[in-house]
Amino acid sequence: MAKTFCSLIFLCCFVLSTGARVNHRILSSSTLGLDDATPTGSNFTFVCDPARYSSLGLEASNFAFCDTSLSYEVRAMDLVNQMTLTEKVHQLGNKAYGVPRLGLAEYEWWSEALHGVSNVGPGTFYDDLIPGSTSFPTVITTAAAFNESLWKVIGQAVSTEARAMYNLGRAGLTYWSPNINVVRDPRWGRALETPGEDPYVVGRYAVNYVRGLQDVEGSENYTDPNSRPLKVSSCCKHYAAYDVDNWKGVERYTFDARVSEQDMVETFLRPFEMCVKDGDVSSIMCSYNRVNGIPTCADPKLLNQTIRGDWDLHGYIVSDCDSLQVMVDDHKWLGDTKEDAVAQTLKAAAVRQGKVREADIDKSLNYLYVVLMRLGFFDGIPQYNSFGKDDVCSKENIELATEAAREGTVLLKNENDSLPLSIDKVKTLAVVGPHSNATSAMIGNYAGIPCQFITPIDGLSKFAKVDYQMGCSDVACKNESFIFPAMEAAKKADATIIFAGIDLSIEAESLDRDDLLLPGYQTQLINQVAGAASGPVVLVLMSAGGVDISFAKRNENIKSILWVGYPGEEGGNAIADVIFGKYNPGGRLPLTWHEAGYVDMLPMTSMPLRPIDSLGYPGRTYKFFNGSTVYPFGYGLSYTQFTYNLTSSTRSLDIKLEKYQYCHDLGYKSDSFKPSCPSIRVDNSEYNDRFEFEVEVQNVGTKDGSEVVIVYAKPPEGIDESYIKQVIGFQRVFVPAGGSEKVKFEFNASKSLQVVDFNAYSVLPSGGHTIMIGDDIISFPVQINFC
Ligand SMILES: *[C@@H]1O[C@H](CO)[C@@H](O)[C@H](O)[C@H]1NC(C)=O
Ligand SMILES: *[C@@H]1O[C@H](CO)[C@@H](O)[C@H](O)[C@H]1NC(C)=O
Ligand SMILES: *[C@@H]1O[C@H](CO)[C@@H](O)[C@H](O)[C@H]1NC(C)=O
Ligand SMILES: *[C@@H]1O[C@H](CO)[C@@H](O)[C@H](O)[C@H]1NC(C)=O
Ligand SMILES: *[C@@H]1O[C@H](CO)[C@@H](O)[C@H](O)[C@H]1NC(C)=O
Ligand SMILES: *[C@@H]1O[C@H](CO)[C@@H](O)[C@H](O)[C@H]1NC(C)=O
Ligand SMILES: *[C@@H]1O[C@H](CO)[C@@H](O)[C@H](O)[C@H]1NC(C)=O
Ligand SMILES: *[C@@H]1O[C@H](CO)[C@@H](O)[C@H](O)[C@H]1NC(C)=O
Ligand SMILES: *[C@@H]1O[C@H](CO)[C@@H](O)[C@H](O)[C@H]1NC(C)=O
Ligand SMILES: *[C@@H]1O[C@H](CO)[C@@H](O)[C@H](O)[C@H]1NC(C)=O
Repeated sequence: MAKTFCSLIFLCCFVLSTGARVNHRILSSSTLGLDDATPTGSNFTFVCDPARYSSLGLEASNFAFCDTSLSYEVRAMDLVNQMTLTEKVHQLGNKAYGVPRLGLAEYEWWSEALHGVSNVGPGTFYDDLIPGSTSFPTVITTAAAFNESLWKVIGQAVSTEARAMYNLGRAGLTYWSPNINVVRDPRWGRALETPGEDPYVVGRYAVNYVRGLQDVEGSENYTDPNSRPLKVSSCCKHYAAYDVDNWKGVERYTFDARVSEQDMVETFLRPFEMCVKDGDVSSIMCSYNRVNGIPTCADPKLLNQTIRGDWDLHGYIVSDCDSLQVMVDDHKWLGDTKEDAVAQTLKAAAVRQGKVREADIDKSLNYLYVVLMRLGFFDGIPQYNSFGKDDVCSKENIELATEAAREGTVLLKNENDSLPLSIDKVKTLAVVGPHSNATSAMIGNYAGIPCQFITPIDGLSKFAKVDYQMGCSDVACKNESFIFPAMEAAKKADATIIFAGIDLSIEAESLDRDDLLLPGYQTQLINQVAGAASGPVVLVLMSAGGVDISFAKRNENIKSILWVGYPGEEGGNAIADVIFGKYNPGGRLPLTWHEAGYVDMLPMTSMPLRPIDSLGYPGRTYKFFNGSTVYPFGYGLSYTQFTYNLTSSTRSLDIKLEKYQYCHDLGYKSDSFKPSCPSIRVDNSEYNDRFEFEVEVQNVGTKDGSEVVIVYAKPPEGIDESYIKQVIGFQRVFVPAGGSEKVKFEFNASKSLQVVDFNAYSVLPSGGHTIMIGDDIISFPVQINFC
């Protein structure tokens, strides 16, 4: 969303962009004369409302597309068939102008709801009636909770606020969220928008958030997915292999991601596949970058064949803002003229001379209107009619935002149980550092106007008397003269809390990081304040990507470290609850925290996940990086201690092969390891291949707490170039002090134990797989045999 206009296309391989930017000469010789989209704030009910038609001097019953006895597809076709070519072209940008002659209202497609309803995008705005909406923690924080029901409940709360604002004419029904690109490189500026580095965790986040946004209660089991009602429409983006924004002059608009098919299937596409197949999302957005030379928005294989063919998307495909313009101006793709770019995007497989066929526009308009019908834009959805002002920034939603920030807080260090602080002993607090009074930093990007801000100072002031010294005037921390007053405050206080980290000036859209260090004099501030403090010192970090804080990890004066991501509008309350023990933290890092030297070892633009020995490049993400880290993926402590006891487990699985199933070869480091039937292909096949286990989680400490049980699988020894381990499941479970809780896991071997081979086939290797719970707290073998 870097440029002003969102020229989108709704592909498969389809349609166009705003008149403002793309010349439609090939489609229509008339001047379109389109106005800018301005939300009206009108209390629009629904298109086919008979009263609305009469007020327009029309009769609703004359239009078959308003006949609710017909299917959405038939109705959409009727609508499109009645439009002239010029009228069709008017509906193809993010602002659809409607067709007054047919009673078709205008519609603004572009709204955003990454972690709350946002006013990024012209479809949504705030005013005196709705001055703000709940700003949940940024996605990286919520992801750290590793709690699937939390992710879904937040989606439900956001869609309720969205639907309420829609009823009041202040928001749209189509939200271009979430961002589900995996964080391949620790420098990526958009890590805050994402659920981290693991494709499975990212995919599960997507499924839950999308279902929370989209699903209408009671209609989850619709037999026809193209008529399944939608609360609001969600969009998984940016498809695909998009994770370089602006690094040393390499910009996303021109970046050509050189990606192997193996990485594509195993890493880059996996969350999108889960979003479409398991989340049943109603939209996918293609990205700015090229993949292996081809702009993603013009790649028939990526768009039509994969999303529609293999995954069976029920919905529309949209291009990122201006990506048509990008294709012409920046990629200089095939020396395109604007018309060519439109044609390529509309119909990627296009015979280039043919340009756009009207039938392709019709098809994409059909996808769009079916989605709008599923949203009730034409007929209304009665159960949401009552949503209004009271549903936005409700007490429940504000509490949910606080709860999400608590659940997402990660305890990185806690020497000698220094935390939680005792309310009885700690009466005065020195609060220092550039994030002490954080407001907008806590809500990151793609935010709206929040209901309120509870800053760290606000939150902590509820528990103790706060002496605030900024220490640095901002995160850049260029001026060391503020450090001394901070040290003086620490000397006097019963305890010291240092709020350090980074913000959107360091990591953001269009801004990747250069290094993994704290900026300016922040390190000096932390060390000097910790040295001067008389009471316990707690370091609280705000960031999305990892920060190399090895110095603080080692520093004995710093007893405790908390990472809170960017914790949303209620961040200060959540942080204070954790520090004073009202809440026992249980979050886990959703990405690896690398040592600073990591980024000197490989350029951000090198896409492979596996190490490249010939160039000395290490692997990427915990799945392929075997070196030392500041903190590993999945790390996080608690105020209590947990032990695991495996109470039952499947140890071997005999999978019966049908006559037509063949053994598939698989590269092994040495043939002596290789079984006679190394693997079978698992794409689109179903097997009786369930395995399960149960683990008892015991809280052997003295405080109630939540434990995240993360399950990894390791493939059989000796497979060439395979991952070290990968997450196959996780559950967050609350266990009272002294109590225990049984947690059951079920898997399909062909899904959870699969390996993507060099030729991008998904295969299930035979032999001894290893299941690991946590960081090898418990591990046991599962033997796969084919017979
Ligand atoms: C829409 O409805 C709200 C609440 O009933 C009202 O306050 C507002 O004035 C209405 N807006 C318009 C444009 O009619
Ligand atoms: C997970 O999130 C749900 C929904 O907010 C919450 O009710 C539950 O307590 C959370 N589970 C744990 C173990 O924290
Ligand atoms: C949908 O199907 C699932 C599984 O059969 C069932 O548990 C659930 O109750 C059904 N939901 C509705 C609303 O019928
Ligand atoms: C899209 O894929 C379908 C099959 O899934 C095929 O029939 C159609 O021709 C393809 N369209 C384009 C434009 O490639
Ligand atoms: C923790 O407590 C023990 C015993 O009181 C003490 O010897 C040790 O130095 C403490 N460690 C730190 C890091 O404060
Ligand atoms: C915190 O920042 C707000 C504005 O963002 C300001 O009004 C307030 O005075 C600041 N608080 C302190 C203690 O400086
Ligand atoms: C640092 O801040 C102090 C106090 O505001 C100011 O007097 C001084 O000029 C600043 N120094 C620099 C290098 O900006
Ligand atoms: C770690 O990976 C590197 C890069 O592939 C490799 O050279 C090295 O042997 C590996 N080290 C271990 C302990 O596996
Ligand atoms: C673990 O579970 C097994 C089976 O339920 C039980 O026999 C054993 O006592 C448990 N061990 C511990 C340490 O609780
Ligand atoms: C395993 O596969 C079966 C059949 O495809 C499916 O119904 C079931 O949901 C899968 N279970 C898991 C845990 O993925």
